[in-house]
Formats: sequence, C-alpha cells, structure tokens
Amino acid sequence: MSNRVLVLYASTHGHTAKIADRIGAVLREQGVHARVRRLDEHTPRLEPEEFDGFVVGASVHAGHHQHRAIAWIAEHRTTLDRHPSAFFSVSLTAADDTDEARDVTRQLIDDVLDETGWTPRLTQAFAGALQFKEYNFATRVVMRLMAKRIEHQTDRPVDVHEDTDYTDWDAVERFALAVAASLRPTEVPS
Ligand SMILES: Cc1cc2nc3c(=O)[nH]c(=O)nc-3n(C[C@H](O)[C@H](O)[C@H](O)COP(=O)(O)O)c2cc1C
Repeated sequence: MSNRVLVLYASTHGHTAKIADRIGAVLREQGVHARVRRLDEHTPRLEPEEFDGFVVGASVHAGHHQHRAIAWIAEHRTTLDRHPSAFFSVSLTAADDTDEARDVTRQLIDDVLDETGWTPRLTQAFAGALQFKEYNFATRVVMRLMAKRIEHQTDRPVDVHEDTDYTDWDAVERFALAVAASLRPTEVPS
C-alpha cells in the first residue's frame, strides 16, 4: 500500500484546520502515515516527491478559495496527477441544502480544477462554520448579514457571540475513508 499522505490545507479562521486534522486522524486509524500541514507564509517548502497521496483543502472567502492553495496545486499539479489525490472545499454555501446552493458549491470546486488543471480522484464540499469568536469588527459586521441568511436557510438560530458549526463530521470521516481506499492498489482478477 502507498502509505505516505500529505493533508495540506489553507484556513483563514481555523475551521478547515479542524477538518484536515480529523481527516489525518482517520487516515492514521487506517494505517496511513498522514502528515497534516497548514499552508501559510511560515510553511517550509514541502517536497511532494516524499508522498504517495495528497489531500488538499481550502475554504471559501468572498467567492474564492484561498489563492495560496490554488497556487500550490498549480505548481505541483503534475506530481498530484501522478498519485491518488483529493480536494475538499469548506464553505457556508455547502450548509444550504438547495439545488441552487449545490450548483454554486460544485462551481466553486470546478473553478479550482479549471484554474489549476488538476484532476483529483475525489472532490468533496463540507459545510463550514460561523466563527464569531475569531472575527475582527469589520468581519463581524459582514458575517452578521451572512448569519441572517443562513438562519433563514437552515432554520437554526445563530448566536452571534458563539461559534456555530455546520460540518457533517460523519461525512468528513466517510471522505477520509474513501481517501484511504483510493490508496489501496486495485486488485486485478486472476
Ligand atoms: C469574510 C468571510 C467571507 C466568506 N465568504 C464566503 C463565501 O463567499 N461563500 C461561502 O460559501 N462561504 C463564505 N464564508 C464562510 C467560510 O467559508 C466558512 O466560515 C468556513 O468555515 C471558513 O473556514 P476557515 O476558518 O478554514 O477559513 C466566508 C467567511 C468569512 C469570514
């Protein structure tokens, strides 16, 4: 089994980090050597050649995934395409269970793949979180408006002094298990 997997993520307020950590933990439970790394200005240069599989995650802010993640994928696309790889997107649109929202979520992922030319084996959207404890004043003002919309869509009240987590953690585990399965060589019938 190809066993060394890099789980690399970009996260502005820390929620994608939690999802990446959970994916890493499930992979380790499956016997995979998973290394979880945040992609930021302090990230030392990573050598993709050291890994047999890749999971890249990013969150959506103002209609786009973090540029840092897009740039890393584009730079390493050839290596990514040679190995099992997966992309996960974290957004609040994914918390909205309507066809229209699902189209937007799908388009957000397609934009990443179009921009980078990457063809990961697996893609997945996860609903993110409202993290009022992390926001500065300006972000809080913007996010109060988004919270109103989400309250309406989800029928779930939002406390603007607390964090609200919309992530389906069972879906995160299922995704991690699918990643682990994608690393196993397919058996050729004899
Ligand atoms: C300033 C700001 C802008 C955002 N813009 C969008 C957006 O355009 N579409 C969306 O679906 N979610 C949007 N979100 C929600 C984030 O994707 C969500 O909060 C996610 O959990 C953030 O993950 P992170 O903490 O890893 O960055 C926005 C959040 C913030 C704070």
